[in-house]
Amino acid sequence: MTSSTTSPEPAAPAHPGHPRPTRLYGPAIARDPDALYAELRHRYGPVAPVLLDGDIPAWFVLGYREVNHVTSNPRLFARDCRRWNAWDLVPDDWPLMPYVGWTPSVMFAEGPEHRRRAGAIGDALDAADRTELTNLCVAICDRLIDGFSGNGEADLIAEYSAQITLQVMARLFGLPEADIPALVQDVADSLDVAEKAVAAHQRIHARMQDLVRTKARRPGLDVPSRLIAHPAGLSEDEIVIDLLVVLAAAQQPVGNWIGNTLRLMLVDDRFSMSLQGGRGSITQALNEVLWETTPTQNFIGRWAVHDCMLGEQRIRRGDLLVLGFAAANTDPQVCPRSRSAQNPDANRAHMSFGHGEHGCPFPGPELGELIARTSVEVLLDRLPDVEIAVRPETLEWRPSLWMRGLFALPVRFSPAADDDLLSYDPDLFEEDELD
Ligand code: HEM
Repeated sequence: MTSSTTSPEPAAPAHPGHPRPTRLYGPAIARDPDALYAELRHRYGPVAPVLLDGDIPAWFVLGYREVNHVTSNPRLFARDCRRWNAWDLVPDDWPLMPYVGWTPSVMFAEGPEHRRRAGAIGDALDAADRTELTNLCVAICDRLIDGFSGNGEADLIAEYSAQITLQVMARLFGLPEADIPALVQDVADSLDVAEKAVAAHQRIHARMQDLVRTKARRPGLDVPSRLIAHPAGLSEDEIVIDLLVVLAAAQQPVGNWIGNTLRLMLVDDRFSMSLQGGRGSITQALNEVLWETTPTQNFIGRWAVHDCMLGEQRIRRGDLLVLGFAAANTDPQVCPRSRSAQNPDANRAHMSFGHGEHGCPFPGPELGELIARTSVEVLLDRLPDVEIAVRPETLEWRPSLWMRGLFALPVRFSPAADDDLLSYDPDLFEEDELD
């Protein structure tokens, strides 16, 4: 077999379960994820022995059936990271610590405790009125577009897709309008700027704590107030940490879903021919992105509860399994049949929202789609002649194996005149609460 720059040869250092693991980190590894997955599949089958940053051993689950099996069986593959048998190898400043460092949040809860937490989150989010949410999202998108529509050019990632979700979530949380810009900046710093990340995270935590205390005194029609009143009887600390999880879980995936869909519609003739055409093509593009350039391409993960076999590999109790959602979606064993050639839109059996007890909880996928669809529709309505401003092959994906999103999406369009700017219903931005 030939090797490629996207995927190095199997590495020498030891993996307790396999003599020739592959390093899953380094500058080239995320450059062409599809080629990487194909090569790992060819080399090892549906479950690959890998070394994460710093040569920490793990299993990378690539097969659709295997991802389905792991996520469907929480008694065999559980979520509490304290089960890990490799903790003694992991330094405190490990770059992947944000994904594996235990916190008392819904993410690492299991069984009845997980159902109590996830059920309350689902109920609190589900109470949001979808029409009001759509109107709010339209107003947020219009306001962002007003900020650049006079220029005739924009970067649709920095100036648009990366901004929308947090602004919607902040309103769902009942945060005062004046606090939102600082929150947006802190969340950006906590994700992107290493030296600012810790302080930014502390400020976000403090802001959520203040918010929960304020809502306990003066409840409103918002997510924190509903969590406080929920029969699950959540403590203040539980609510604060789960609000942080919801914020982080929504922000990047939805932002990248919007950005990846706009990219597809702008670079692919099947969509650009019908940019103004229609809602139908937006549905198709949103779904196609979830199959082919899904926002959460890989996810850490699950930990084996017992010794077992998975895809011909011997897994030991406490081993870490990385879920390869993007690889599962394009698994050649399943893909041709799972995506009907006649009607690819109809098939939503991708793994992009995870699966099983810890999959993206109802109504996360629905709210994510509402925000993503509205954002794409508003942009195409407002800028009907929008076109990509660079050669499509020069667009750069962020070099992450975990999230799939572009650095930038430069576009140009006919500049709007001042009187094309929209005026808003000020109530949408001045009310403290979103029903
Ligand atoms: C408003 C939008 C969203 C909200 C509020 C939300 C919320 C959440 C929460 C709370 C979790 C943790 C679940 C648990 O551990 O029990 C989660 C997991 C997850 N979400 Fe979402 N999410 C949203 C949108 C999305 C989108 C757009 C995607 C990808 C397209 C996505 C993909 C995932 C994945 C892959 C997981 C992990 C699944 C697993 O472990 O099996 N989410 N989400």
